[in-house]
Amino acid sequence: MKFLITGAGGQLGRGWQRSLESHPIDEFIALNRQELDICNSETIRKVFTEYKPDVCINTAAYTHVDKAEKEHDEAYRGNVLGPQLLAEACAQRGIRLVHYSTDYVFSGKLSDREIYNNGYPEEAPTNPVNQYGASKLAGEKVVVSALPSALIARVSWLCGLDGNNFIKSIIHGAKSFGQLKVVNDQFGIPSFVPYIIEQTRFLLHSRNSGLYHLGSKGCITWYDFAKKIIEYAQLNVPIEAVDCSTFPTQAQRPYFSKLSTSKLEATGMSVPSWEIGCKTLVSDLIKA
Ligand SMILES: NC(=O)c1ccc[n+]([C@@H]2O[C@H](COP(=O)([O-])OP(=O)(O)OC[C@H]3O[C@@H](n4cnc5c(N)ncnc54)[C@H](OP(=O)(O)O)[C@@H]3O)[C@@H](O)[C@H]2O)c1
Repeated sequence: MKFLITGAGGQLGRGWQRSLESHPIDEFIALNRQELDICNSETIRKVFTEYKPDVCINTAAYTHVDKAEKEHDEAYRGNVLGPQLLAEACAQRGIRLVHYSTDYVFSGKLSDREIYNNGYPEEAPTNPVNQYGASKLAGEKVVVSALPSALIARVSWLCGLDGNNFIKSIIHGAKSFGQLKVVNDQFGIPSFVPYIIEQTRFLLHSRNSGLYHLGSKGCITWYDFAKKIIEYAQLNVPIEAVDCSTFPTQAQRPYFSKLSTSKLEATGMSVPSWEIGCKTLVSDLIKA
């Protein structure tokens, strides 16, 4: 298969690049924002015409959750216009499209934790509580409308070797400050770049399309996550559990955003526990 990766400067885009470099059977081109702005239809046309990919993996997105509260236009350009242009270009040329979305499409009310104790299934009603989530939800809708056969993969609390993420922040915070305060009233599940790529590849190879939740097994708070990171990194620092009101943010976050992976598992794909993903990534980050 010939892959085109968009957003190649980002956490997931760089992970895809690493993965494809280690699978020499697949051809690929990975383009960062300067090389392919997904909001520029002319550049998309040029790249698609010259490279002729079989599949386009769209990891490009506007991901500044707090800034999105004020930067509506930028968020909608990156998360709605760009995906729409890509989906239209893929539809015209018979190219398969993978588009990533987020757990933030859900309202994340704590009462939903009782209703969806295995996590939100794909068909659960959406109702984002912030502008980032609203723009990503609108992006899902334009992609499906332009290309009903697109694979839309929602992920949550994403962590990988590249870019910024929670694991890196906790390790850095522990080393710099010798103690941590971490939010213990928001529940969800971390997902790890290598597993997200493996799950995406499985769905592509088994020719599944439509909406899927990818990720890991379990349901934890950021505090639970931080405790494990500190344990695996062998950093002996105290961690205090606090409410999210201790760290006010521009954008509201869901209190519960665990994604159920039952639909993915029903395809035959196994899903790792979050502890396995965490342990592997912490060890890789320490070695890096
Ligand atoms: N990170 C998470 O915890 C998380 C959670 C749930 C879902 N997701 C979703 O997972 C996907 C990958 O996220 P990530 O963590 O890899 O994000 P990321 O590290 O912020 O990477 C996104 C990349 O897209 C680029 N980009 C933005 N606008 C673009 C445009 N118009 N054209 C081309 N490239 C553009 C960004 O470039 P600049 O840096 O120059 O803006 C950045 O390199 C996204 O769809 C995101 O919404 C992420």
